[in-house]
Amino acid sequence: MHYRLVLTLLTIIMVTISAGLAYVEWSRGGGGTGLYSRHWSPDPGQGYWDPDNFYRSPDSVQGVFEGELCIQCHEGITPGIVVDWRASSHAQGENPVYCNDCHGNDHQQLRLPTPRVCGNCHQKQHSEFRDEARFGFPSHVLAMERAVDAPHFVDKPTAEVQACVQCHSVATKCDSCHSRHRFDAAEARRPEACITCHSGPPHPDGETYFASAHGKLYLAEGDDWDWSKPLTKGNYKVPTCAYCHMDGGRHQVAHKSLWKFGLREVNPHTSKNRILRKRWISLCSDCHQQEQAAQWLRELDEERKRAWKKLYAAENILKELRSDDLLYPAAGERPPYPMDWLDSIWPTERIGFFEGQASAFYNVSAIERDYFEMWYFDNLGSYKAAAHGDVAGVEAGHQKLNRSLDHINEKAEGLRMHDEAGERAGAGSKPQVELWTKGAYTDHNREHN
Ligand code: HEC
Ligand code: HEC
Ligand code: HEC
Ligand code: HEC
Ligand code: HEC
Ligand code: HEC
Ligand code: HEC
Ligand code: HEC
Repeated sequence: MHYRLVLTLLTIIMVTISAGLAYVEWSRGGGGTGLYSRHWSPDPGQGYWDPDNFYRSPDSVQGVFEGELCIQCHEGITPGIVVDWRASSHAQGENPVYCNDCHGNDHQQLRLPTPRVCGNCHQKQHSEFRDEARFGFPSHVLAMERAVDAPHFVDKPTAEVQACVQCHSVATKCDSCHSRHRFDAAEARRPEACITCHSGPPHPDGETYFASAHGKLYLAEGDDWDWSKPLTKGNYKVPTCAYCHMDGGRHQVAHKSLWKFGLREVNPHTSKNRILRKRWISLCSDCHQQEQAAQWLRELDEERKRAWKKLYAAENILKELRSDDLLYPAAGERPPYPMDWLDSIWPTERIGFFEGQASAFYNVSAIERDYFEMWYFDNLGSYKAAAHGDVAGVEAGHQKLNRSLDHINEKAEGLRMHDEAGERAGAGSKPQVELWTKGAYTDHNREHN
């Protein structure tokens, strides 16, 4: 009897697991890519950001060409590209790297070169780039996967989704830091090569770098430096993004990351993180005293501790409101995230990172949105300020965190008072908040993605 029960249970488990795996496989088989590939189809422009998956060659020009033939015609059609190519190291020497080496020679079956194509000749950079996957998320090599697998990627109207892939294409092509068709190492060494993507509220890397002692000196003198030198000790007076994050020219950015995106609290003193910390200190020691560098990293830890204390305080306020049923509109009254089937069966207000706050960009009540902004903008701003030595930015960030916490406190009191007044009047007078449940943004999403 007992034996039969175990066997039945085991069978159910096996069937459930295989069905789950089959479902994921099926879900990946649609017109898009990633976990939700059946829920979106690529915009035509996406071929340029993720060529392996989506590029289609035009067929308007017929013929097979090579070397100078491509150039002769393109000198008239795309003169800028030819000028850049001529100035690049690809055009130098006895055996130039011609257009067809990257794009192929049949004009009806052109390709746009992916990292694999560059890797045919630049094996070292390509394998370093690929190998970054072992550090997990976030990392450049996994960036596209990360974006398309995020529920808030699929949830959004196509035009916004197109914006995600422009930055997250750092995974699917090599011309993010080496702009085409100069493919210049010197250009990639400068901070401007990174800030097309690494700027703006959730990741103000450019803003905080230029406000630091390093960035200010770069702005004052950088134009006179010789950028043809590699990013190694002795070649530069102050470090740039790549000097710190791609030390030694290594084509990886995640090999030292402790706090990563700063989205969650980590313990910076695990034995694994102590090794990463040593890597940072050794890097700073190119120019500073070791002990000084260690102290700066401890200050970053302290700043993180202070910030998380404030975030947890805000989270607790929201959790209390939730248990008293005071979040309006309540989870069941909001449209579920289209990608979140669990939420449509069993709606919950997800509060804080560990409950899935990462997708709480919209479809939430006003006070939850306030917390989201506190966590995603104020917090990440002061983190990057502390990481990059922008002293005034840390101060400003913490003032914003304080103001947001006060504001959330006041709003929570308001909700409680409103509820008490409603009870005294004997009426269920919950405030009607229609933003997110109805309205242009939500409707547009439903119809257009
Ligand atoms: C006879 C003139 C001519 C020659 C020769 C020629 N091209 Fe083109 N190429 C064009 C034209 C015209 C277009 C624009 C086609 C279109 O948009 O339909 C183009 C477009 C392209 C594009 C852009 C495709 C896109 O989807 O944006 C690439 C890449 C390209 N050519 C590469 C090459 C390479 C590599 C060679 C040599 C193998 C070459 N071309 C030879 C005329 C030429
Ligand atoms: C070292 C490789 C390499 C070489 C050599 C090269 N290209 Fe490109 N080309 C690229 C990359 C990378 C892109 C951007 C692909 C993408 O957007 O996904 C590109 C894009 C293009 C485009 C599309 C328009 C654009 O800029 O978005 C055209 C046209 C083009 N190349 C023409 C040429 C011509 C003509 C030559 C020769 C003079 C040439 N390429 C040589 C790598 C190369
Ligand atoms: C057919 C071989 C070949 C292909 C394909 C190729 N390259 Fe190159 N690349 C070279 C050669 C040769 C040089 C010049 C010698 C050197 O620096 O190694 C070079 C140099 C470079 C440099 C150094 C430029 C400098 O300023 O020192 C960069 C960056 C570069 N390539 C990037 C790329 C990227 C990105 C791709 C793919 C879009 C690519 N290459 C595709 C052969 C190739
Ligand atoms: C085309 C856009 C783009 C450019 C250019 C770019 N990055 Fe990134 N970078 C990203 C994206 C997107 C991510 C997040 C990846 C993910 O979601 O996993 C990222 C992640 C990172 C990370 C985080 C790694 C971690 O473990 O937390 C670092 C560090 C980084 N980039 C540094 C740089 C530096 C330095 C440069 C310039 C030399 C640069 N990036 C240029 C788009 C870019
Ligand atoms: C302006 C460039 C840019 C745009 C646009 C952008 N991202 Fe990012 N994204 C980044 C950078 C840079 C990081 C890494 C920041 C860091 O590590 O500090 C990142 C990180 C992420 C992460 C976190 C990765 C992790 O492993 O924790 C996710 C998920 C993500 N982006 C998804 C998206 C989605 C979805 C969109 C569109 C709605 C989007 N991104 C639009 C640049 C961008
Ligand atoms: C995040 C920015 C970034 C991306 C993405 C990137 N590079 Fe680089 N690349 C750099 C920097 C910075 C340097 C200069 C390193 C140094 O000074 O030692 C460089 C240098 C190079 C060089 C010249 C190396 C030398 O010693 O002269 C080649 C070749 C190269 N990259 C190829 C690639 C290839 C191939 C890819 C795609 C797999 C790629 N790069 C993607 C930033 C980048
Ligand atoms: C002086 C060295 C230095 C310079 C220059 C620098 N960073 Fe950082 N960066 C750091 C340190 C230290 C951290 C925090 C590291 C940690 O928590 O592991 C950090 C954190 C980051 C992160 C979060 C992911 C991670 O690795 O923890 C990103 C993304 C980032 N920096 C991008 C940039 C960009 C883009 C620039 C240029 C605009 C830049 N950095 C300039 C030292 C530097
Ligand atoms: C390539 C040399 C170089 C490297 C590497 C470097 N710094 Fe600096 N750093 C400088 C210089 C030069 C200054 C002084 C700028 C000035 O005088 O305005 C400075 C200033 C600073 C300051 C401002 C306080 C002061 O003493 O002026 C801090 C904080 C700082 N660095 C932290 C770091 C950290 C942390 C790292 C490693 C993640 C690092 N630096 C790596 C060159 C470097």
